[in-house]
Amino acid sequence: MGFPNDFLWGGATAANQCEGAYNVDGKGLSTADVMTLGSHTQKRKRTQDIDSQYYYPSHQAIDHYHHYKEDIALFAQMGFKVYRLSINWTRIFPNGDEEMPNEKGLEFYDRIFDELEKYHIEPLVTISHFETPLGLQKYGSWMHRKVVDFYVRYAKVLLERYQGRVKYWLTFNEINCMSTMPWIAAGIVSEDEQSKMTAAYHQFLASAKVVLLAHQIDLHNQVGMMYCGHFAYPNSPNPDDMISTMNFMHDMLFYCDVQCRGYYPNYKLKQLKREGIVLPIQKGDLDILKNGTVDFLSYSYYFTHVTGEKTKGIYKGLNGIDTGYQNPYLPVSEWGWTIDPQGLRYSLNLLYDRYQLPLMIVENGLGAVDVLEDGKIHDQYRIDYLQQHLIELEKALTIDGIPVMGYTMWGPIDIVAASTGEMKKRYGFIYVDIDDNGQGSLKRYKKDSFYWYQKVIQTNGKSLKEE
Ligand code: BG6
Repeated sequence: MGFPNDFLWGGATAANQCEGAYNVDGKGLSTADVMTLGSHTQKRKRTQDIDSQYYYPSHQAIDHYHHYKEDIALFAQMGFKVYRLSINWTRIFPNGDEEMPNEKGLEFYDRIFDELEKYHIEPLVTISHFETPLGLQKYGSWMHRKVVDFYVRYAKVLLERYQGRVKYWLTFNEINCMSTMPWIAAGIVSEDEQSKMTAAYHQFLASAKVVLLAHQIDLHNQVGMMYCGHFAYPNSPNPDDMISTMNFMHDMLFYCDVQCRGYYPNYKLKQLKREGIVLPIQKGDLDILKNGTVDFLSYSYYFTHVTGEKTKGIYKGLNGIDTGYQNPYLPVSEWGWTIDPQGLRYSLNLLYDRYQLPLMIVENGLGAVDVLEDGKIHDQYRIDYLQQHLIELEKALTIDGIPVMGYTMWGPIDIVAASTGEMKKRYGFIYVDIDDNGQGSLKRYKKDSFYWYQKVIQTNGKSLKEE
């Protein structure tokens, strides 16, 4: 009963949201480095190059590049068993298309893995998390097949360099975000379906090649896919709403179908044909997709949607994310994201029923404004959110028998928000003294939730049942 003894408790970050040091030790520019600060109401702008009239949150972020020892020591104090981090592609291949990697970039992650080993924390590495090298724009980024080779070359360098040190890998963060935000996901400027489907095809191929390579390099490697957790309820029992919910889920889940089953599902092939979209399939590709399926399925879980015939524009989250109709049974966060702990259990069941693969929650958390008072942050709202979600996760394990490998809470230390670029949308157990404009001491403080999570891990989840 309860959480298995080897359950991987931990936290997750992304390089471009925490490292800063955007031009240090040979790092090149990535798509994330030209994204300006946005807000609840104002979308982040993308500029061609660095423009001095804007503030770019990724440039300094929380300067994890120079604080990693302190940050990892704090993770260790909480008892982390796993730390999900991403490697910044542009530290290793500054433009993305070089022949040889940048040694200084590789050394930085050597140092990170040294620290993690010191505390027996297992790394879980995302190979690409929302930071395509800007240098690949000249090829049209993932629109061009050459980028598949550049990515595989980059991944090979990582797999060889960190062999024996890293066992868990994710090929792309939230691969289905290609459909919703192609620039952030893949550096794709055009928003038309043909472009998105071409780029997604290339990412599927690249991912499958890396799965095969990872297994060839080391049989201990386990490579997962990472799905942006979109799950929807129909707005009413009207069958029209159910069909539109099915269509919405098909648009999202086909990404998992390809990566977990190794082929495009019929509904997608029919849709592509109807819409006149052509996939750039070359000889041998379909075998690669078929053989390069993932070992496990990981996903982020923040909210659920309500969909129906008239979804578009009816309800918009404050950050601009269209979450369909508002669910009258559920509260929303300060950023308009629906809070639905039971939906987590539902989603675990849905994905396991569909794929029978081990699952892992690699992002979950509450973005909220925190108040620092006398060096303390009383974030009971965050504890409540996490507690409720973990209780539902435990039900999925114990009542439904779903194999969940682990849970990495998103942003265990405050980092830059991906959607808005803000610092004030904080997720962390650790508060970082820095504001939206990059002002502050960068000092780290433990929030109340820090001690709460420490106890959850220490008791392997048993403390969740205490009052
Ligand atoms: C996920 C991304 O979609 O959501 C993360 O993988 C992101 O990079 C997280 O930070 C939370 O979103 P936000 O906009 O609140 O940071």
